[in-house]
Amino acid sequence: MKDILDRLEDRRADARLGGGEKRIEAQHKRGKLTARERIELLLDKGSFEEFDMFVEHRSIDFGMEKQKIPGDGVVTGWGTVNGRVVYLFSKDFTVFGGSLSEAHAQKIMKVQDMAMKARCPVIGLFDAGGARIQEGVAALGGYGEVFKRNVLASGVIPQISVIMGPCAGGDVYSPAMTDFIFMVRDTSYMFVTGPDVVKTVTNEVVTAEELGGASVHTTKSGVADGAFENDVECLLQMRRLIDFLPANNEAGVPQWPTADDADRIDPSLDTLIPDNPNKPYDIKELIHKVVDEGDFFEVSAKHAMNIVIGFGRIAGATVGFVANQPLVLAGVLDSAASRKAARFVRFCDAFSIPIVTFVDVPGFLPGTDQEYGGLIKHGAKLLFAYSQCTVPLVTVITRKAFGGAYDVMASKHVGGDLNYAWPTAQIAVMGAKGAVEIIFRADIGDKDAIAARTKEYEDRFLSPFVAAERGYIDDVIMPHSTRKRLARALAMLKNKHVEMPGRKHDNLPL
Ligand code: HXC
Repeated sequence: MKDILDRLEDRRADARLGGGEKRIEAQHKRGKLTARERIELLLDKGSFEEFDMFVEHRSIDFGMEKQKIPGDGVVTGWGTVNGRVVYLFSKDFTVFGGSLSEAHAQKIMKVQDMAMKARCPVIGLFDAGGARIQEGVAALGGYGEVFKRNVLASGVIPQISVIMGPCAGGDVYSPAMTDFIFMVRDTSYMFVTGPDVVKTVTNEVVTAEELGGASVHTTKSGVADGAFENDVECLLQMRRLIDFLPANNEAGVPQWPTADDADRIDPSLDTLIPDNPNKPYDIKELIHKVVDEGDFFEVSAKHAMNIVIGFGRIAGATVGFVANQPLVLAGVLDSAASRKAARFVRFCDAFSIPIVTFVDVPGFLPGTDQEYGGLIKHGAKLLFAYSQCTVPLVTVITRKAFGGAYDVMASKHVGGDLNYAWPTAQIAVMGAKGAVEIIFRADIGDKDAIAARTKEYEDRFLSPFVAAERGYIDDVIMPHSTRKRLARALAMLKNKHVEMPGRKHDNLPL
């Protein structure tokens, strides 16, 4: 009997070694942790339960029948993060470069299916060389099965992808269909086709980092939602993110204890807006000052920085924040900002996370670059996303809310439940200069007349009161009381319930 028990332990020890000590050492030399070390850091201590540790591939081509490694390049199972259940798979680069075989894909599919049954998040840790070349179409079929499950789970359970090494070919499309992608700086890269193929097809010489490193995907392409210095920091930040997220689309947001008084007043907010309306200020200061304990998890912080998105908590419950950032391009809405915010708004709505929107927007960015790039379609994405929300929407206009951007940014007209404005708000079709030049074109040569008209326009329109007189703004509030007003509004809206018209699905302007 003892022998049988020992044999189980031997087989487990063998599987835990993955591709062997040499490859583990090589992994460490590159500054990367192994698949199992990553799981240890991500999950609560001792909570990991592994599935399919003894699964092997069934390939007999190219001598593969002689190369079998238990687990077949991916470690799968479930565990807890601060006591809450998550499912995960972690690609093991030490085994056939983490490449995906039919058996490897089936392990991932099992985790996806179980997570869907249990309605808990799935986290994928990627460090892999794409399809197992020796398996051909069996590997391609495996990818397809994983992709389909990603789509079925979308909007039902949160799906998070963490790129911690190569992520190429077939491996990129599963992350692309999940809710968030995070990367590790310098050790991870993502691309559909690598530098060698790029050179062959286009003659372009480019390194892996230049083609798909974390700096590319968190700034230029916007494919990734954030990057961290190393595996350890990345995994600890993933734990922080999971704390903000609901387990599924019906569970409601998690409620954490907080020592921060929901009625807390912040007098410094009364001087946040500069006297000069064209001077910028940092909207993140407002977010940090209204959330519990200043704890804000920003998403996509380096891409389309003219809009800020992320998670915070008010009275212990998760809130999604969307805010124009006057520090970057005066907070204007362009294609990238619209797309970034639209996707976030849809995530929050799918998972019943209330949204707070801070508005300071001079309009949409003019110019051929934007128009040729499809600003109309991209701007419409954000308009569409807000308009289809059924979660509580609380909006605060801090300063400018001009033109179409006023409508788009969770205005009353597209579904805002409570729309507040600070006394410094300016709500109009456009700023004074542009407006006067159009409606008083005949006076343009007359400096005094233009000055008088500008003053008249500013006095009449550049305040929150024209909108408040119509009920488009529910109340003009003091900046220092913003947290208190948000907390009250969110508590009042807790059981908000609205039905959208029945349909197969909408037709979001993609
Ligand atoms: C089988 C693979 C593999 C793969 C790597 N390995 N990728 N085995 N299939 N796709 C093996 C290597 O043979 C090697 O085995 C070990 O993993 C480590 O790989 P190295 O090349 O030594 O590591 P490194 O120098 O760090 O390079 C990593 C890499 C490179 C950049 C990922 O391995 C690479 O380019 N791999 C191929 C990538 C690729 O073209 N994949 C197919 C994409 S097509 P040994 O035994 O020597 O240690 C695709 C289509 C799917 O995915 C589309 C579905 C929609």
